[in-house]
Amino acid sequence: MSLLHLTETQQDIQRLARAYAQRELVPLAGERDRESRFDRTMVTQMAELGFFGMLVPERYDGLDLDAQSYLLALEEIAVADASAAVLLSVHNSLPTQMLLHFGSEAQRERYLPPMARGELLGAFALSEPEAGSDAAALRCQAVRDGDDWLLSGTKAWVSHGNEAGVILCMARTDTPEMRRGGRGISTFILTPDLPGFHVAKKENKMGLRASPTVQITLDACRVPGDRLLGEEGKGFAYALGSLDHGRLGIAAQAIGIARAALEASARYAAERRQFGRPITEFQAIQFKVADMATRITAARTLLHAAAAAKQRGEKITRFSSMAKLFAAETAMWVTTQAVQVFGGYGYVTDYPVERFFRDAKVTEIYEGTSEIQRIVIARETLSAALADDGSLPD
Ligand code: CAA
Repeated sequence: MSLLHLTETQQDIQRLARAYAQRELVPLAGERDRESRFDRTMVTQMAELGFFGMLVPERYDGLDLDAQSYLLALEEIAVADASAAVLLSVHNSLPTQMLLHFGSEAQRERYLPPMARGELLGAFALSEPEAGSDAAALRCQAVRDGDDWLLSGTKAWVSHGNEAGVILCMARTDTPEMRRGGRGISTFILTPDLPGFHVAKKENKMGLRASPTVQITLDACRVPGDRLLGEEGKGFAYALGSLDHGRLGIAAQAIGIARAALEASARYAAERRQFGRPITEFQAIQFKVADMATRITAARTLLHAAAAAKQRGEKITRFSSMAKLFAAETAMWVTTQAVQVFGGYGYVTDYPVERFFRDAKVTEIYEGTSEIQRIVIARETLSAALADDGSLPD
């Protein structure tokens, strides 16, 4: 039973994703994590289900789902394997949405159909080694060379950047003499075949180990002029606008991880006997279960209210940050409780809760740290509160 009032279609998508994830992803998730293995079979399977084009219109070979259906599917995937969920979230929310909303018709026709079919994976390259939370400080430089652009610099923390066929990359198009902050940043559509494009270091991460994260170096990378996305100087606003959407995906991923931890804890606690009875009979455990379930339901309700607002075409910057912040902190808290319910067994790899705990942490870091989400929420709340009519939209 769900608090959400879901349509038939939304329930169908949820059931489809759950059945697939439980059947195909759950049995191999632990092994892929231990081996840090990105699994192309999983990509093929999810492509057959249409999961790489969930938000893409049918004319570009997508499923054209509403935002809530997409997030319900993502949650189900994340319950089974958070590494698979980040692949879907980044691909569907960031490069795909940027191309859809800011690309020319020629760019959309060229890239979206193979992306929606899962033949081309999309990645997003905003951060750099010296520009994380302060994304506008990025230094990757683009200079014109005839009709082309030459890009030089290092992009960091690029999820599945070594597996992607299309990378939406933010680079400076202002000059070192005349810096224009965020307004000096443009977006380029990169492909790994471009001369000067190199995948550098692969990170050795605490969690999401089956999802590769890489650095990309651009060594005077020659990019044809028709690979500029939208208008020159608008790339930073495109990136932040797309992150409004991306953060909903990460919130769904965090909720999925938390739900996996709660479900595992409930099953374990019902079997585990101490002091002559199952530990579910102790209030210490019951209260943890109650708090876990309450926080998860609150996070999901906030997320789906934000998604419904997005579907209505409203600006959701504040609510997307709230959903991501609350879901990420819920995932970290719930997985910490789950390890505690399991006791020593939660601290070893025999059970999956230590993986859930490791996977949860990054949801408080990527696509904007919890501190950045609080900055966004505070800015938006204060400007609403101090607006002429003094009323805070809810
Ligand atoms: N939608 C559309 N436009 C927006 C926007 C939004 N949500 N937020 C800001 N903008 C526009 C502003 O209107 C402004 O435009 P103008 O210059 O025309 O006025 C421009 O973007 C710059 O905005 P700010 O002045 O607010 O920018 P700022 O430098 O103060 O930064 C910030 C704001 C919130 C701190 C931002 O830098 C930020 O979100 N930082 C975190 C970055 C982040 O999330 N990185 C994650 C990278 S992806 C990843 O994690 C890897 C992966 O693959 C998963």
